[in-house]
Amino acid sequence: MANPPYIVGNWKMNGTRAMLAEARAIDRAASRLRDVQVALAPPFTLIHAMREAVNDIGIGAQDCHVRPSGAFTGDISAPMLVDAGAGFVIVGHSERRAMHGETDAIVRAKAEAAQAAGLGIILCVGETEAERDSGEAEAVVTRQLAGSLPQGEEATVKLSVAYEPVWAIGTGRVPSIDDVGAMHRAIRARLAATYGEAGGDVRILYGGSVNAGNAAELLAADEVGGALVGGASLTAESFTAIVVAAVSGRE
Ligand code: PGA
Repeated sequence: MANPPYIVGNWKMNGTRAMLAEARAIDRAASRLRDVQVALAPPFTLIHAMREAVNDIGIGAQDCHVRPSGAFTGDISAPMLVDAGAGFVIVGHSERRAMHGETDAIVRAKAEAAQAAGLGIILCVGETEAERDSGEAEAVVTRQLAGSLPQGEEATVKLSVAYEPVWAIGTGRVPSIDDVGAMHRAIRARLAATYGEAGGDVRILYGGSVNAGNAAELLAADEVGGALVGGASLTAESFTAIVVAAVSGRE
């Protein structure tokens, strides 16, 4: 059977210890569901506490540095994330690319640093609205993948790619199901070109304004193996509804 859907909540710069109750409730709900893999990526400050607070769900980070240690004030390395209890890290989120000037080369270096530390990776790509409007969306995403996919023999181990159109993030707008399927097929082709047969095992998540109402339909699109959820992952009520929709969409 194919991989179960992978539903990941990205809390971005939200959450203090008071919100661990939401994570516990998400964990309890996820533990009652089979055939779905659930994870949360809280801010760095909550990783350890959240890992201790939950049993079944995965816990990861939203970024890491390219180096394992050194004079990089304010940064966090991949081995530190492992030490804090993280099992994966998101790299190349469009907010990091846009607000922190992360290039494809930096994203690749972060992915390889994370892999060296044994972390799973969710590598984000996606076009802006102007790029979509000018018909360049697939070319942009293909170029991002060519520049940022990790290299090396074990590169596909624990690797997921998240397609997140920048214009769909936090806006309530989502691409048509046909456009999602077309982009995910293009990503699959690029993964196959890069990794050969192993590229078929890489999960491709969709992200951008996923909610309980649209999750089942988005997850049923071609080559969609899960979802990366921002705003709707911040409460157990809204995130659990998405997880339930992911499971029921497969029945
Ligand atoms: P959103 O964010 O679900 O709030 O649109 C998704 C993301 O940025 O990962």
